[in-house]
Amino acid sequence: MSDEHLMPVYARQPLAFARGHGVWLETAEGESYLDALSGIAVCNLGHGHPAVVEALREQAGTLIHTSNLYRIPVQERLAERLCAVSGMERAFFCNSGAESNETAIKLARRHGHARGVETPRILVMDNAFHGRTLASLSATGNTRAQEGFAPLVEGFVRVPFDDLAAVEKAAGEYPDIVAVLVEPIQGEGGVQVPAEDYLERLRTLCDEQGWLLMLDEVQTGNGRTGEYFAGASARPDVITTAKGLGNGFPIAVCLARGEAAEALGPGSHGTTYGGNPLGCATALAVVDTLENEAIPAVREKGERLREKLREQLEPTGLVREIRGRGLILGIVLERDCAEVVELARDQGLLVNVTAGNVIRLLPPLVISDEEIDLLATRLGRAVAEFARRQEAS
Ligand SMILES: Cc1ncc(COP(=O)(O)O)c(C=O)c1O
Repeated sequence: MSDEHLMPVYARQPLAFARGHGVWLETAEGESYLDALSGIAVCNLGHGHPAVVEALREQAGTLIHTSNLYRIPVQERLAERLCAVSGMERAFFCNSGAESNETAIKLARRHGHARGVETPRILVMDNAFHGRTLASLSATGNTRAQEGFAPLVEGFVRVPFDDLAAVEKAAGEYPDIVAVLVEPIQGEGGVQVPAEDYLERLRTLCDEQGWLLMLDEVQTGNGRTGEYFAGASARPDVITTAKGLGNGFPIAVCLARGEAAEALGPGSHGTTYGGNPLGCATALAVVDTLENEAIPAVREKGERLREKLREQLEPTGLVREIRGRGLILGIVLERDCAEVVELARDQGLLVNVTAGNVIRLLPPLVISDEEIDLLATRLGRAVAEFARRQEAS
């Protein structure tokens, strides 16, 4: 096994998996790991879920791709389903979270131009993550991710997250803002949860200013927080999502309602693969299964996980805060803790660390109570070992 022919853009761990089942991933040698990351919020129904496998198999043997030159009945059914769960009216399907945000950015600009704004701007947040394509990277609030890619795409105004006064100030300074793009909870930014009424109040400000409210639910969508979309109740104009929509099959969507839904007309946007029969049949099975099997229990499971984490982690004296909603949780430690990833791996547990000192947990939503307890016990051991090493050094 050699990675010398891969561009070295990832700091990969020395581990490969051969198969997966539920919350478990197994190496070719038969070692099992409890996956508390779900392939970064993707496999919300776990690995090898029979409903997903069956839909993929069935559609792969029937019809995989035709292009959007023709009508695709299963794409139309998926669009209807997603509009019903989100309160949106139209869908554009693409293949990744970054592309779904590109669509939202282009849509906002078209909307602005249609209203006579010559240089439409989009308000974005510090520490946001919206993807790696040039426009979504420009919208991202992480200078490390942007390093070396100048000139970035113009037209973004940045303010601190969860700060409505800053939004009001920007409104006064930039009359050509046409939209706000925001994550309901910042995932990559360290599982930052804003004030309870943040999105509602942002909605009111958007209404006052005539701006579109666009929610990036690439990470928070598809049941992760206990609702299909974390911010749908704030009545956004646009929602983007990807990750959990295909449970591992690459499919993404930009949903819109009202004027926003009419902004992109024939020939103004497109992608060859977007919304092909294979992706849409898979996503339809995912949406159904999430709604029927997984989402109703997410809040309760999240509460159990928090409680067990508190029991296991507080004795280490290193935990500043446990935050999140449903099954997106961030454990904020008193100090940077990248090492915890390896220490957890030694315990047979897969986790991730973001923003330096936040252990991020995104387990499959189908995790059982016993597996939740095991996750907390294993993480407790890893953090206790981290604390011991910190003391010794
Ligand atoms: C909130 C958010 N938006 C966009 C993206 C980019 O998605 P993708 O990697 O599928 O392009 C991510 C990925 O982590 C994300 O968390």
